[in-house]
Amino acid sequence: MEIITPDVVAQVRQKADITDVIGEKVVLRKQGKNFIGLCPFHQDRKPSFNVSPSKQIYKCFACGAGGDVISFVMQEQHITFKEAVQHLAQRYHIPLPVSSPEKQRSYQQQQSKQNQLLEILALAADFYRHALHSSLGEPARHYLSQRQLTPATLQQFQIGFAPPGWQPLYEYLVNQKGIPAQLVADAGLLVARQSGGWYDRFRHRVMLPIFNLKGQVIGFAGRALGDEQPKYLNSPETDLFNKSQVLYALNFARDSIARQDQAIVVEGYFDAIALHQAGITNVVASMGTALTAEQVTALLRYSESKRLILNFDADRAGIQAAERAIAPIADQARRGEVELRLLTIPRGKDADEFLRDHGSEEFRALVEQAPLWLDWQIEQILAAKDLSQANQFQQALQSLTRLLSGLGGHWRTLYIHRVAERLSRGNSRLARDLEEELRKSIRQQRWSRPTSRSHPEKGSKLIQSEFHLLQIFLHFGEYRSLIREELLNRDLQFSYTPHRQLWQGISELVQQQPHLEADTEALLVTLRTFFAQDEALNQRLTHLLWLDETSRIALMRPRMVVRAAIATMELEIRQKRYRYWTQLWDQAYQHRQTEQALYFQAKIQSEYRRIQALQKECQMSAEDLQTSLFNVDEL
Ligand code: UTP
Ligand code: MN
Repeated sequence: MEIITPDVVAQVRQKADITDVIGEKVVLRKQGKNFIGLCPFHQDRKPSFNVSPSKQIYKCFACGAGGDVISFVMQEQHITFKEAVQHLAQRYHIPLPVSSPEKQRSYQQQQSKQNQLLEILALAADFYRHALHSSLGEPARHYLSQRQLTPATLQQFQIGFAPPGWQPLYEYLVNQKGIPAQLVADAGLLVARQSGGWYDRFRHRVMLPIFNLKGQVIGFAGRALGDEQPKYLNSPETDLFNKSQVLYALNFARDSIARQDQAIVVEGYFDAIALHQAGITNVVASMGTALTAEQVTALLRYSESKRLILNFDADRAGIQAAERAIAPIADQARRGEVELRLLTIPRGKDADEFLRDHGSEEFRALVEQAPLWLDWQIEQILAAKDLSQANQFQQALQSLTRLLSGLGGHWRTLYIHRVAERLSRGNSRLARDLEEELRKSIRQQRWSRPTSRSHPEKGSKLIQSEFHLLQIFLHFGEYRSLIREELLNRDLQFSYTPHRQLWQGISELVQQQPHLEADTEALLVTLRTFFAQDEALNQRLTHLLWLDETSRIALMRPRMVVRAAIATMELEIRQKRYRYWTQLWDQAYQHRQTEQALYFQAKIQSEYRRIQALQKECQMSAEDLQTSLFNVDEL
């Protein structure tokens, strides 16, 4: 039998996203930082049901139902706590420990060992903090005051000092507290001597505790006071401390990331600390290594629109260095699923250094101006070349062709135009020629690189479909009611946040001024004025609000595009549901709940039939589209 342990429960709470889980049962609409919908637990007339993604809780203001992701599943499916945890664990692939007596024992041992390690680390943090404020700590206090850290910051980040000498921590934890030395070593704090015996890993260093999301200490970074090497000594990997998963200061930053809907990643521990001290609190530090995909996922969970700003050492940040660091998110960024910006600080400073002679306002201004990754790449290419030299100009053009040919359709069109403008420096005739030349060479490149064309990512296809649908809705007035009906009848929503925001904006506008829906131009003009006030959103929607000639041609057969797009959107949802029913069926089957299993099986079959039909529909429309597109290319 499977057992539910506190660890499993914690993992479920961490991995299961409440908006995903509830979103499958309730149609949710964004309102401010939260979502609202009709309460599934009573006969709700107006949307009283609130879901908070940042707090991961729900609450109905009419009937009072409320709780976290586990209680939602309990309430909704009328099952016990244990069953709800099992259900979510299965859905999010969290392994459940199986309780043979030995396994259970070893699991409990492991659990209690983790707790012991946590306790040791907490004691060590206390010890270091105490040492910082003792007479021994004078040099470290001096060092920290030179770095302009305030007492409040020292306290918040629980900064301490590892005194010089081989064994002060050993003395405290092993001799005074009676903790087995091996256990302290397992916590990463002692090192074994070859000759037997132990010595402290961290000596004569400023100690920065590293926290997990709950704010528990899981490791340390020790900063040398002078030029000793290494500059930072980090805890070794332990059961608790995994460098590729942790982000320094995320425990302090996550609310602010959710509030500002944007996360800033800096390279250094002290950069994060200095920014928090300056009131810029949506900041975390990577652990001195390239970001991992896990870290990015953990981070972006708090930013609803997936907005990420990376701060780089401008000295080292050649395109390649940046590319390496960005690698795990590069694809997501290219597909527009993450809005990635690059922040470089003038004169090769890091954030900490910058803040010493500039205020937080100036830093905020840098953040505001941080270019999109794509723009940054373009600038890097242009900056490296002397464009007045014919051969260098050609080289720049080649690099740009390569860069732009990796982009998805609408971005490509937009940027070809921008780059041509940028290169022509005000010469409009040249701009037109360049645009034409870029378009041609990019087309060649794309055809000769079949991989980039024939393997569209799932995410990108869906987003692309939504994009086309919105384009048609906006620019081909006669299709508006068709699109609206299809979305309503099939209960479809836009999955990409800017699209959802735009759709909501449109709906609200049309509700207030119904005549807009019938008037193609009037709606567009109103939307353009409306979004012009919101710079960030405007930037992301501009390619929807203004239709260029290429897109107009690509959309030559709107009815077909609508059909394909709608089918793609529905397919996505059906596939999700199919997986969901399969998991429920699996579970029922395992527990020999025959009747339920049969019920789920019927659901699976009906989803499956619908999926097949939709797949056919998508395929057919795709073929149609391909031929029509092909003809356009041949024109
Ligand atoms: P930097 O060398 O850029 O240092 O390392 P820094 O953050 O500006 O440090 P200060 O301001 O001189 O104190 C950036 C990050 O790389 C990791 C740390 O996470 C550091 O913050 N690092 C660096 C190490 O882990 N070990 C080292 O020896 C050096
Ligand atoms: Mn620094």
